[in-house]
Amino acid sequence: MSNNEILFETVPNAEWWRSSVIYQIYPRSFADGNGDGMGDLKGITDRIPALAALGIDAIWCSPFFKSPQKDAGYDVSDYKDIDPLFGNLVDFDNLVSACRKFGIKVIVDLVPNHSSDQHELFQAALKAPEGSPERGMYIFRDGKGKNGDLPPNNWPSVFGGNAWTRIANPDGTPGQWYLHIFDSTQPDFDWTNPAVLDMFDDVLRFWLDRGAAGFRIDVAHGMMKRVGLPDTKVIDTTMGGAKTEAEMTLEELEEMNPYWGQPEVHPVIRRWREVVDEYDDRLMAAEAWIMPLSRMAQWVRPDEYHQAFNFGFLECPWDKASLHKVVTESLKEFGAVGAPSTWVLSNHDVIRHATRFAYEPGTLPPQGDGIGPEFAQPDEALGLRRARAASAFMFALPGGAYMYQGEELGLPEHTSLGGAYRQDPTFFRTNGERVGRDGCRVPLPWESKVNESNGFSTTGESWLPQPSSYARYARDLQEGVAGSTLELYKRMLKVRKELSLGAGNFKWAPEYQDESTLAYINNGVLVLSNIGGEPVVIPAGEILVTTQHDLTIEGELEHDQTVWIKL
Ligand code: NOJ
Repeated sequence: MSNNEILFETVPNAEWWRSSVIYQIYPRSFADGNGDGMGDLKGITDRIPALAALGIDAIWCSPFFKSPQKDAGYDVSDYKDIDPLFGNLVDFDNLVSACRKFGIKVIVDLVPNHSSDQHELFQAALKAPEGSPERGMYIFRDGKGKNGDLPPNNWPSVFGGNAWTRIANPDGTPGQWYLHIFDSTQPDFDWTNPAVLDMFDDVLRFWLDRGAAGFRIDVAHGMMKRVGLPDTKVIDTTMGGAKTEAEMTLEELEEMNPYWGQPEVHPVIRRWREVVDEYDDRLMAAEAWIMPLSRMAQWVRPDEYHQAFNFGFLECPWDKASLHKVVTESLKEFGAVGAPSTWVLSNHDVIRHATRFAYEPGTLPPQGDGIGPEFAQPDEALGLRRARAASAFMFALPGGAYMYQGEELGLPEHTSLGGAYRQDPTFFRTNGERVGRDGCRVPLPWESKVNESNGFSTTGESWLPQPSSYARYARDLQEGVAGSTLELYKRMLKVRKELSLGAGNFKWAPEYQDESTLAYINNGVLVLSNIGGEPVVIPAGEILVTTQHDLTIEGELEHDQTVWIKL
């Protein structure tokens, strides 16, 4: 393929989600409406005007369902109710109507791979005999070895330790083992059981009927397990380990992942698509950590999910060749199945990109492990500069864009959070060796220094402490301030919408590049990023967006800056 070919063309009369900007809310950390230090639905509702001013199309809320909160709500004990920590169903209805006033859609997080161990179905399974329909909702197996005291296979939990836990029978004798790919409080459902499918059809309809614009599907890549539950081939992918996943062959990936990306899941997705299509223009976006992108694209064929998060892009370093490759592949592979690519740089599971980009490629622990006080601390200014440049590179790309709360403020990760505050099960399951994801989940600063939580709550309470730097990033200090990250985001989203960049015609523009710059043209807008090189002269044209605050038309584009120019 020559460099100048159009890689992506607008779909006429396209559905909204093909070009939308979706803002991820992590409810416990967005805004606290009742002063208890925990974010809630009322807090979100009160702050919707601020999100409308930002120019987003939809919000996706991480789980707010009833839950013992062992994994911050990704352990659901009632799929059709709200946890009292966050409010109640009336608060949800109020949120949907507040959003509707601004034309903002509300996407709900569906957690189908596992429930909480406190879900009534799992409690019933514990009490029921082996082989019963109650046990059949989950994955129970006999143990191996003498007396069945070894786990049924060698699968590890994502959060550390073993993926199996042995139960005690009602009479106290040791019983079967159940599978939990995540924490032991998160038993996996058996998606080969039709009763599980029926139950979730009902959950989908419940939220669609209540006005949800669709679903983000948690662990979409994990719902089906390889038939026979064979052992995984253990390959050390940790930092300094044998290989990274990107370096593995397809066969190695398959052998390593008998619980990820199994093709048996496709009929389930198609069934859900039929349910969702009974309603007008709803969306399903899959969290599917499946590599390579060509395989991930199988999850978004026309009768399956509408979108999948582009984790290849999220994991791409701030590096010219890598960016060129991942964007080309994304547009090509998703385009081949008629799906829009998505773009995302941060979420509640990864180190915020304003901090990630402060490190050189290959120097960070794997995704999900986080950074603690013992780790080399980042150069905050460099990270922020690269993050703004990367965001500006991203928001002019065609397809659906996702952003994570606080990135519009340029928020860094909390990298010095002490062990006493840690809540992520990863921390506990690895005895603190992997500190986990709390650093990207810290409550947002709204009004600088009004209280200890910088306006996150009215009382100053906050379930995790903010780092002292958050007072400098508070929203009120950036509002209306030229050059602030907040104003940069507002400008980018406005121009993106006005010039239909989300649904534009994309091609690389090598004629505008030198060795350290990357350039593309989308709907007549030239996007030029200087990725760590010497200053370059900017081409003539109207400057629409610039991350370099003091840029003039005669100026030069410095290292780690991006500019959008109307040609
Ligand atoms: C992915 C979610 O994004 C993450 O936060 C959660 O811990 C796991 N799935 C388990 O539900």
